Amino acid sequence: MLLKSMMAGLAVAVVAAGTAAAAECVLPADAQPGKAVSAQCKSCHIFEADKPSRPTGPNLHDVFGRKAGTRADFPKYSEGMQGASAKGLVWTDDKIIEYLADPKAFLAKVNGADVKHAMFFQLKDEQKRKDMVAFLKAIKDKPECN
Ligand code: HEC
Repeated sequence: MLLKSMMAGLAVAVVAAGTAAAAECVLPADAQPGKAVSAQCKSCHIFEADKPSRPTGPNLHDVFGRKAGTRADFPKYSEGMQGASAKGLVWTDDKIIEYLADPKAFLAKVNGADVKHAMFFQLKDEQKRKDMVAFLKAIKDKPECN
């Protein structure tokens, strides 16, 4: 009797441990090329859902669909990004694609004036920008992906 309930308890513990193990990241095929492109962002940005922004750039895990310049643990948004945020800019496909091509020009356009910006990096290859967006879109609701 005692042995039987101990065995049952053990079985429950084993099942619970199985569920608690981290889910594996499964990305749709169209998001996979972007994962390779994201290596170019990692000198400044982090993509892990549960990690804080680095001083060099805001955490990008859930940036797709987020209002610009609103990651609370990144205190160093530029004047241009703060201005874009105040104008209600949201990071949709087109906006990210345009921003990555030329952050300075994009923020000048959104603000309607030359403004300070803080991302000194450009992704000129259009296909890579599209791939990056597909990746950001896919990981947003998958905490196990980065
Ligand atoms: C040299 C460092 C650096 C690199 C490389 C870099 N970024 Fe950034 N990024 C920044 C900084 C700094 C900001 C904040 C910009 C500002 O405030 O003007 C930023 C902002 C952003 C934002 C807006 C975030 C928000 O919270 O509104 C997006 C989107 C973004 N970067 C995407 C990327 C992607 C995608 C890549 C790679 C393809 C990349 N960045 C590469 C430094 C970098």
